[in-house]
Amino acid sequence: MDQYHEPYDVLDEETRDLTRAFKSLIEEFEAVDWYNQRMAVTKDESLKSILKHNRDEELEHACMALEYLRRRIPELDDELRENLFKEGPIGHHDEEEGATEENDLAVGSMKE
Ligand SMILES: [Fe+2]
Repeated sequence: MDQYHEPYDVLDEETRDLTRAFKSLIEEFEAVDWYNQRMAVTKDESLKSILKHNRDEELEHACMALEYLRRRIPELDDELRENLFKEGPIGHHDEEEGATEENDLAVGSMKE
């Protein structure tokens, strides 16, 4: 229960499941990082090979959690489509299309 910031009883089941998926994604990438660090320092090539195998498995697990989230959060789907698998500098795709995040926020604040 301590993974929730808001009282568990007031969260609907969909939000609880999203939290479970977010936490899983964090934990999978944490495991990737740990295996990656161990790979970097071991002098034993057979251990390095095992650690790499385990790290790569965790990458797959992270992708599975991310895909779960992408299918349920349309805004995440939009961001992933806009930002992943592109060439050139990271984070400049909005500007190319003339729709910056600042513009989106300005439009949003005008509605209030
Ligand atoms: Fe995992």
